[in-house]
Amino acid sequence: MSHADDHSGTRRDFLYYATAGAGVVATGAAVWPLVNQMNPSDDVKALASIEVDISGVEEGTQLTVKWRGKPVFIRHRNAEEIAAARDVVLADLGLVDSLAQNANLPAEADASDANRSMDAEGKWLVMMGVCTHLGCVPLGDGAGEFGGWFCPCHGSAYDTSGRIRKGPAPRNLDVPVAAFVNETTIKLG
Ligand code: FES
Repeated sequence: MSHADDHSGTRRDFLYYATAGAGVVATGAAVWPLVNQMNPSDDVKALASIEVDISGVEEGTQLTVKWRGKPVFIRHRNAEEIAAARDVVLADLGLVDSLAQNANLPAEADASDANRSMDAEGKWLVMMGVCTHLGCVPLGDGAGEFGGWFCPCHGSAYDTSGRIRKGPAPRNLDVPVAAFVNETTIKLG
């Protein structure tokens, strides 16, 4: 059972996408770990990245997809969430982690919301759904005292930009390599 199944988040929050190919990879990796490690097949290489249709993700909701065996949150933020994330001065936050943790940017990029969201307006936020403490899957839809995500395992709270605002988690939720293929498709990896 994955972490994503361990809790009782809302159905909307944890609408779970597993591509047909992901199962193939998982099975293959379990049966042929050494072979895959030494000489990954074309199938495995191809599935290192996936394309996600986001056309059905309504504003104020989140889609969770499985990528490389881990949950990825794709959130379509509403105006309130964006404002909450952007109407803050980083220096005033007392952030636990002041770096963007965005694989698409230089390591020294700061944790401004613009450096963490996908588009200029900040409507789309893509993050690994893995708590940076010990790896539980945080609850979303405004959970926690900072209005973003809350980790039920040990109480970490993230804001609407996925920045860690209250530990014990030490880092912001990681933003993976991601890009828009077109208006309704995001490629991970
Ligand atoms: S795993 Fe999230 S707070 Fe410990």
